[in-house]
Amino acid sequence: MSSKQKCVVLGVTGGIAAYKACEILRLLQKRGMDVFVVMTKNACRFVAPLTFETLSGHPVAVDTFERPATWEVEHIALAKRADLFLIAPATANIIGKMANGIADDMLSTTVMATRAPVMVAPAMNTGMWDNPATQENVKKLIARGVHVVTPASGHLACGDSGAGKLEDVNVIAERAIAVLEQEKDLAGLRVLVTAGPTREALDPVRYVSNRSSGKMGYALAENAAMRGADVTLLTGPVSIEPPAGVTVVKFTTTQDLLDRALEHAGSQDILIQAAAPADYRAEEVAPQKIKKNDGEPLVLRLVENPDVAATLGKAKRDDQVFVGFAAETNDVTAHAQGKLVKKNLDMIVANDVTRPGAGFDVDTNIVTLIEPDAMRALPLMTKTEAAGHILTRAKELLDAKRA
Ligand code: CTP
Repeated sequence: MSSKQKCVVLGVTGGIAAYKACEILRLLQKRGMDVFVVMTKNACRFVAPLTFETLSGHPVAVDTFERPATWEVEHIALAKRADLFLIAPATANIIGKMANGIADDMLSTTVMATRAPVMVAPAMNTGMWDNPATQENVKKLIARGVHVVTPASGHLACGDSGAGKLEDVNVIAERAIAVLEQEKDLAGLRVLVTAGPTREALDPVRYVSNRSSGKMGYALAENAAMRGADVTLLTGPVSIEPPAGVTVVKFTTTQDLLDRALEHAGSQDILIQAAAPADYRAEEVAPQKIKKNDGEPLVLRLVENPDVAATLGKAKRDDQVFVGFAAETNDVTAHAQGKLVKKNLDMIVANDVTRPGAGFDVDTNIVTLIEPDAMRALPLMTKTEAAGHILTRAKELLDAKRA
């Protein structure tokens, strides 16, 4: 094994999909990984350890009484050797153990001891997957930074149909490699991301808001954190979970967002404003619930909110990179270029929200990266991929400023 060869410890648990772990092992090897296998006792009922031993070229760590006396030490050595710890398939049982700190066999003790990134690919009956206990456990793992490859839907071995099927082995291998190859190119940098909508109250029960889902901003925060940045996520009210390992600060109104952003902006290297702050708020918030008025129209007087990006842009230092977003419905480039200048941004990410696959509440986006003297249109891609491109460019701009 060369010193650069990456090591994956592959945990296999007892489910009918255990045989698919052989294929995952082969796919990882094809990409140059050295794979060591740890099996639970139940996994051995589905696939013989000898199969994994032959495929991996290493002894398989199995939790049986025949284990060598050196086992306790060996499992720590394995935990330390891992560059990635992948459990596929992962049963509800191992997920439950990991979420609750239970270490009672070879696999659960080894995964608890590792400091390497951990990925689990669950596979189980739909009822077990949907069970609130499993869902809570999965959430706990995600919050701790474990990568979860969500199971696919389909026909399951038990005869049921629904979610719980092990994700395609190629997808699992790709996700594993992506984690392994993730460069920490943003280590040492502070990145602030704003995300989501604002809410401007009209009365104690009503507010004006917009369709921002926060997905683009959350993808940016996640990508920056994965690449080693120290990330602060300023978020409006959204229904998605924040990524692991980022500092979350909540805001409700545009003024709120401005106040929070002003507290943090000075200490950031890169600031990305993907939030959709309301441009207007009610001139007066009714102290009591507004009542109907015998068919008379209701007139709301709205006053302009501060422009957060423009305010922050005024105080931008030469060694900082500020990125904004422009969601447009017409004359996209011209409008975005105008905002780039007005808000003193280094780059603006423009998208035409009327195009299918772009804009609000979808997982994809079609964006153009606009700079004062350059423009690059990216094809339709996931928000996660777009986040990667945006951060890579922001880092290049930062390096250029600091050269
Ligand atoms: N933005 C901001 N404060 C506002 C409105 C927008 O900081 N009150 C920021 C957004 O976070 C985004 C950029 O400015 O990064 C562009 O937002 P957008 O709503 O497209 O632009 P507006 O300046 O509001 O212009 P308009 O609504 O007239 O298109």
